[in-house]
Amino acid sequence: MCGIVGYCGDEQAAPILLRGLERLEYRGYDSAGLCVETDGKLVTIKASGKLKNLAALTNDGKAINGVCGIGHTRWATHGIPTDTNAHPHLSDGERIAVVHNGIIENFRELRAFLENRGVTFRSDTDTEAAAQLIDYYYDGNLIGAVQKAVSQLEGSYALGIICRDFPDTLIAVKKSSPLIVAHTGGGSAGYASFLASDVTAILKYTRDMTYLEDGDMAVLTRRGIKFYDAYGQQIEKTVTRIDWDADAAQKGGYAHFMLKEIYEQPRVIRDTISSRINGMTVDLSDAGITPDYFDSFDEIKILACGTAYYAGVAGKYWLEQLARIPTEVIVASEFRYADPIIGKRTLAVILSQSGETADSHEALREAKRLGAKSLGIINVRGSAITRECDNTLYINAGPEIAVASTKAYTALLAGLYLLAAAAGQKRGAISPERLSAIIGELESLPDKLEYSLKTCAEAAQYAASQYFNHSSVFYIGRNLDYAAALEAAHKLKEISYIHAETYAGGELKHGTISLIEPGTLIVAPAAYEPLTAKLRSNIDEVKARGAEILCVTQEHMAENLKSVSDYMITIPDCDATISPFLTAVPLQLFAYYAALMRGENIDQPRNLAKVVTVE
Ligand code: F6R
Repeated sequence: MCGIVGYCGDEQAAPILLRGLERLEYRGYDSAGLCVETDGKLVTIKASGKLKNLAALTNDGKAINGVCGIGHTRWATHGIPTDTNAHPHLSDGERIAVVHNGIIENFRELRAFLENRGVTFRSDTDTEAAAQLIDYYYDGNLIGAVQKAVSQLEGSYALGIICRDFPDTLIAVKKSSPLIVAHTGGGSAGYASFLASDVTAILKYTRDMTYLEDGDMAVLTRRGIKFYDAYGQQIEKTVTRIDWDADAAQKGGYAHFMLKEIYEQPRVIRDTISSRINGMTVDLSDAGITPDYFDSFDEIKILACGTAYYAGVAGKYWLEQLARIPTEVIVASEFRYADPIIGKRTLAVILSQSGETADSHEALREAKRLGAKSLGIINVRGSAITRECDNTLYINAGPEIAVASTKAYTALLAGLYLLAAAAGQKRGAISPERLSAIIGELESLPDKLEYSLKTCAEAAQYAASQYFNHSSVFYIGRNLDYAAALEAAHKLKEISYIHAETYAGGELKHGTISLIEPGTLIVAPAAYEPLTAKLRSNIDEVKARGAEILCVTQEHMAENLKSVSDYMITIPDCDATISPFLTAVPLQLFAYYAALMRGENIDQPRNLAKVVTVE
């Protein structure tokens, strides 16, 4: 979604803003712009389309002088993606410039209010109302004007603001949309202050960042940053050290971030699991989860969106099978308006790679309002959701840049599996023998993933070469294979734009089987051994109607499924409960190669954003 960068320092601002925006491209956008204070004027350049258009207009930023400015990549919500609707937006008279992430819900009322007072608007955006309103209240006191204006904004916003009259000052203010600031007091980056919607934009310059809370205001100059609360009182903020380095956000020789991230999975799973296995026990004390934690609730609601939701589907099976805790997984955007029946004996588990997803964040707030305890299973440290959860279990996947989630998906699975095993161990739902078998399986998982990546890639690529021209694919599975199939289909849709739908194996014959005709592709993860015989019957049913079958199964089960499979990819033998980690790898690769063969933009698929900060 939209991205914000701001810079105020010793160097020419525009090239730094452009580099920062490049780092935010992965979030998804359709236009970009920047504004720099130059000789008492706000010089603004905007371009629809990719960032290279903006770079061409500004000679990579070198054509614009000035050391203080703001930049933005826009993912259109209000107003189509044109140069005019791109940010930054200026007030009438060009005194104030604003970049904005989020949605100002009352912008129509604000616009009418200002137009009635003679203000002329140029764009169709909600953001312009913020720029005009700040100017309307401006009487020489910029901080006061921003405070008055934001007190009237409804909705969500992260704002970066500059003013012609304060050539070396940036203002940052936010509500329900992330914003980070940082200062480099000398060193290789010189004296400079930065603001950004996402750490990756400025990771090159510093790893010490401050997250703004709702209502906070930061005033940035090259000398430092001052913080104020919503009442205008100066406050101190803590600095968070980001343990990712800038290289982790580079492609490292891979053709796409997605491919790199698929191949990082063995390491990521090792990082998520290893420090949490202590002899023959699962130890989640780093997340504040001590054994008595599991006495404090009777049921779990998993709340998440997209891929994180599909990880939650597997989590539900694990929490019920391994720990016997009644668990429901609910799409966060539905939960928040469903008037749910939960209370203080409920644990709400929020799953999120970014920790910033607006619907998941609001679902968390709703669960807390109703008295539930909350646990985040999250990738990005210090993100908004982690700051409001009672406890957070970090999945340690490192920066995930490709829009289509891969390593964060399997790392979320690992977080859920650990939670289920820890709960099962405490509640006596699993025997010590079973627990030690599970722990053994977890410990060998990174090696099995490594092996799968070596052995499956060619087969996945070959299968993709046979089917990349198809316009529609069905995925089927049962139990944990069903959970895996949901995510595998989601991946194919996101990046290849092939229509893909998932059904529980037993459900096809209740309607969808009417769509099966000769040549229809059915993808079947069939690795959850307790139910593969049942799934095999469902495969037989579609095979009898001419479907072609791509089957992913464990090595020792391959013989059994060979006769019904047109293509088969095998994964290492494993405990059935572990299978979703391993079936994920070839099916991610299948989606990747199908998209590659179709010539699609794999890391930045159309219409999608990496961090969905709007409802
Ligand atoms: C996955 C994807 C989305 C995200 C969803 C939730 O490939 O693009 O479905 O999974 O937007 O995002 P997070 O996990 O950041 O809350």
